[in-house]
Amino acid sequence: MALDVLLIGSGGREHALAWKLRQSPELGRLFAAPGNPGIASVADCVALDPADQSAVVAFCRENAIGLVVVGPEVPLVAGLADTLRDAGVAVFGPSAAAAQLEGSKGFTKDLCARKSIPTARYRRFKDAAEAKAYIEAEGAPIVVKADGLAAGKGVTVAATVEEATRAVADCFAGGEADVEVVVEECMTGPEASLFCLCDGDMALPFGTAEDHKRAYDGDRGPNTGGMGAYSPSGLMTPEMTERAMREIVRPTLEGMREMGTPFRGVLYAGLMLTAYGPKLIEYNVRFGDPEAQVLMMRLESDLLPILHTAATGSLSGVEPRWSPDPAVTVVLAANGYPGAVTKGTPIGALPAEGEGEIVFHAGTALRDGALVANGGRVLNATARDADVKRAIAKAYALVDRIDWPDGFCRRDIAHRAAG
Ligand code: AMP
Ligand code: GLY
Repeated sequence: MALDVLLIGSGGREHALAWKLRQSPELGRLFAAPGNPGIASVADCVALDPADQSAVVAFCRENAIGLVVVGPEVPLVAGLADTLRDAGVAVFGPSAAAAQLEGSKGFTKDLCARKSIPTARYRRFKDAAEAKAYIEAEGAPIVVKADGLAAGKGVTVAATVEEATRAVADCFAGGEADVEVVVEECMTGPEASLFCLCDGDMALPFGTAEDHKRAYDGDRGPNTGGMGAYSPSGLMTPEMTERAMREIVRPTLEGMREMGTPFRGVLYAGLMLTAYGPKLIEYNVRFGDPEAQVLMMRLESDLLPILHTAATGSLSGVEPRWSPDPAVTVVLAANGYPGAVTKGTPIGALPAEGEGEIVFHAGTALRDGALVANGGRVLNATARDADVKRAIAKAYALVDRIDWPDGFCRRDIAHRAAG
């Protein structure tokens, strides 16, 4: 029987998920809330506010939705998956309690300590003076993180004690009573991302990628949500993946089960491959953006039954198939991103897409029928090819055919993989 699906979100990640779901022979209708003009080419976009949980439940009932797929973390941390499950609607995504793995750095660090999961040494502080005293005792470099969701902006890797104490002061500057900071050891090594689908009991490795977090070429400039990605990560060999599963991901799933808050959904482990082995930098409880774009380009299996199984059953025996060909995505962002950007700048007709090429929409909108930019990260030029050099060339050839004078991109995405 065909499954009707509601996808929550409006970014490039959700366009990639919608594009992939649309290819499923098991899909009935596909709705997206709120979606974007790219998603509208493969789904019915509905004006439904994901923060209005009872409206989402009512929509699912009226439309006999068989599966809700939640893209971003904010509705998960707010408990949308709990509300849907309580209403008897199948949902791919963790409960609010399990989403603390992303929502609270302190929660995750405590779990790591309990389960002996390798990660940076840390202390949690609710008092600025105590945090500063600890920083002075530890010395620099040192890392300061604000607890809670910060859209990639809550972390300061401080080269000096002064910079670290300034970051602590900034965290407490708002004067809120419940502020907490985590101060941790600065780790060194290359970074990679490991994605796992989880059914509450087991975790299934579901692809690897490397992101480019800084705004400008050569990893310079401010941190962003991600300026480009490629998959697979050359660092995540089968041995490294198995080690990370054994030392990091599986103990996490076990710890969540022991607490009575089993994890269902995507667990995205941000790893640092240190001289002492893989260590956890952080967890996210959803697909990466733009990492999902490259994963979906490489996934050969039907995504829909896999997500439905993770949401409702057991992943035991599920074996996703991947193209061996690498995929690369280049983010086109509005000038000024990650700072203030101008919305509404016009985007010319998008180029024709060849084999293994797609322009995913992130922050776009239609104004009087014409495509305009509507956010910081706007388009994702994505390509797959037989080797990473060709995939890079193809992605940038696509970038160069996009007519949007008010945007910029990095020119070195995936170059570290090309050698
Ligand atoms: P996060 O938002 O936790 O992913 O952190 C953003 C970036 O800060 C990471 O991708 C790392 O490059 C860096 N980072 C976070 N924690 C540490 C750490 N303990 N040591 C070194 N770098 C870190
Ligand atoms: N690209 C990083 C993230 O999705 O968190």
